[in-house]
Amino acid sequence: MKVRLYENVFPSQWFSHLNKCLRKYSKQTDRIDGAFWYSFKGSPTNLFEQLIRYLRKIARPGSECIGAEWWVHSYASDWKKNFHFDRDEYAYLNTSKWIHPKFGSIVYVSDSGGPTVILDQRVDPKKGLIPEQAKKGTLIYPKKNQFAIFAGNLRHGVYPAEFQSKNGSNRITFLINWWHRKPINLFPLTKALPAFIAPLPKAIDSMSAKDSKLLRVKPIFFKTMTHS
Ligand SMILES: [Fe+2]
Repeated sequence: MKVRLYENVFPSQWFSHLNKCLRKYSKQTDRIDGAFWYSFKGSPTNLFEQLIRYLRKIARPGSECIGAEWWVHSYASDWKKNFHFDRDEYAYLNTSKWIHPKFGSIVYVSDSGGPTVILDQRVDPKKGLIPEQAKKGTLIYPKKNQFAIFAGNLRHGVYPAEFQSKNGSNRITFLINWWHRKPINLFPLTKALPAFIAPLPKAIDSMSAKDSKLLRVKPIFFKTMTHS
């Protein structure tokens, strides 16, 4: 199963900038809810687009990927997310077609919360889950400034942490799906952002991604019980 995990994905000063922004953001009532579109043709207009532009050097999604869908999660550390597939939701509603992104990816902004679990299951609209039962899965525990990327057609979810984090901090993630086509009803973030989401210095394009390091990730194999 193709899951890549990087540590120190952003240079430390950029990560602390993102971290500060999202900690403030998670307390705001005027939150940036929903998912947004960033076309790789355009120059970045906010912090998140700048970071995606940088991440693209590490993610290397391929020339067929023309843009990224992005959103932010900030939830209590016992938050969970049922297993699911990422897809173009509106295309699915209109045509029942399953169109997945090429890759899904996650930047962990806090150390809190349960692991992301990525299974080896795909979906076939006619046959259902393939394989029917997951044979293996990869657990990625939240760790600051780590970046996980995986094939966009894999079933995944989030296990809840068994205990609340000691410092009470939220499970904060910055999520990016890498697309070969723009999903229907997805648009750039154009509304005025709170002042604290300050853009990074313009030099971002000239920075190389040399600080990030690819880590070894081993899947867990599930045992299936059979009745004798
Ligand atoms: Fe997802």
